[in-house]
Amino acid sequence: MTDAGSSSPPEAPAGCPAHAGAVRLTGLEYQQTPSQLYREMRRNHGAVAPVLLDGDIPAWLVLGYSEVSYVTSHDELFARDSRRWNQWEHIPADWPLLPFVGYQPSVLFTEGAEHRRRAGVITEALEGVDQFELARDCQQIADRLISDFAGSGQAELMSAYAHALAMRAAVRMCGMPATGDDTQQLVEDLRISLDAAEGDDPVAAYGRVGARIQQLVKDKRDRPGPDVTSRIVLHPAGLTDEEIVQDLISVIAAAQQPTANWICNTLRLLLTDERFALNVSGGRLSVGEALNEVLWLDTPTQNFIGRWAVRDTQLGGRQIRAGDCLVLGLAAANTDPQIWPDSYVGAENAAHLSFSNGEHRCPYPAPLLADVIARTAVETLLERLPDLVLSVEPEELTWRPSIWMRGLTSLPVQFTPVVQ
Ligand code: HEM
Repeated sequence: MTDAGSSSPPEAPAGCPAHAGAVRLTGLEYQQTPSQLYREMRRNHGAVAPVLLDGDIPAWLVLGYSEVSYVTSHDELFARDSRRWNQWEHIPADWPLLPFVGYQPSVLFTEGAEHRRRAGVITEALEGVDQFELARDCQQIADRLISDFAGSGQAELMSAYAHALAMRAAVRMCGMPATGDDTQQLVEDLRISLDAAEGDDPVAAYGRVGARIQQLVKDKRDRPGPDVTSRIVLHPAGLTDEEIVQDLISVIAAAQQPTANWICNTLRLLLTDERFALNVSGGRLSVGEALNEVLWLDTPTQNFIGRWAVRDTQLGGRQIRAGDCLVLGLAAANTDPQIWPDSYVGAENAAHLSFSNGEHRCPYPAPLLADVIARTAVETLLERLPDLVLSVEPEELTWRPSIWMRGLTSLPVQFTPVVQ
């Protein structure tokens, strides 16, 4: 490893020779300036860096655009079933990444023909979502949420708006009403199981989510409607109720966090960057351009865990062993100097890897639906509260200490109170 200076990521002590000089991926300081971290890792390690996950568990972080594209399009070499990991004997039962890595019988971990069956059903069910109806539903959800805080002249938009809106939109697509006690309870349990706060019981909440989704599937078998759940239930592939429950939870979870962070990261850009004057009429760049720029520069799913090597192979000059874990460095790939040789990173097109790539990529109707949700959320907020500004200095905003999901800890704003 070359001289990296005092701000460099800490190296782990040499153990496994392949992981000599591996970079620990834990630590709050990285998340504030991840682009700098990725630059240093690329300089010191090349396109595929040895890293240590929580508990000093070794893995590879794939930083190069062409290497991430290669990994995601070669399922025969790099596959999704985490049971082939060669580190399981070192993973404690309370390992923090277990909820994302531990095998579940859902679409996320299936492979080959079984994955095509499960993902095909989800794709067709999502294709059936009418984008105009979704936009209308999202606008209603947004209007209600805004009305709850409009009179106070201030709000914390992460919790009061973005997370709540993305969750309700996902639940609504699946055929539940966007409001009501029942939906509220499910939304709250999903929040606890995906993003538990101090004092929450995520295991109990996850149990309640499973039971509620099971009930939803049963209801839709009895009385199907124009929604994602009914389309999955009625699909000729004939998924069992158990499979459907697993996959619906995956769809809702996959939709909620990234879409919520996409909304807030876009609002942050609009509120802090003078190219996007918040006065919409005075703005030179549009909300659509801000949404796209965020996908290139502050993408919600920064790093995705992952793929597991099917057999010994080579990648980016590294010797990868069968069962090694590869983390997809989607954010690093988006800013790879190989695709931005003049050290300028722009947002002219949609060739980023923010929705991943290949067989397991975010199923293709989903990015369009997420765009409808995020765009409606941002535009409705700016229309209802046109003089919205940050209530802290831009540099006081902090990012969550997670290398996985790029999102703010909070987004406090103020505006002229609106009397309803
Ligand atoms: C309506 C909103 C969304 C829905 C319904 C949705 C659904 C899904 C589903 C079902 C998967 C699993 C695919 C599989 O394993 O075959 C997935 C994967 C993924 N999604 Fe989405 N998603 C949404 C929004 C987003 C957003 C906003 C982002 C990021 C900007 C995103 C990024 C990803 C990524 C990175 C993966 C992992 C793909 C991989 O393993 O290579 N998704 N999504």
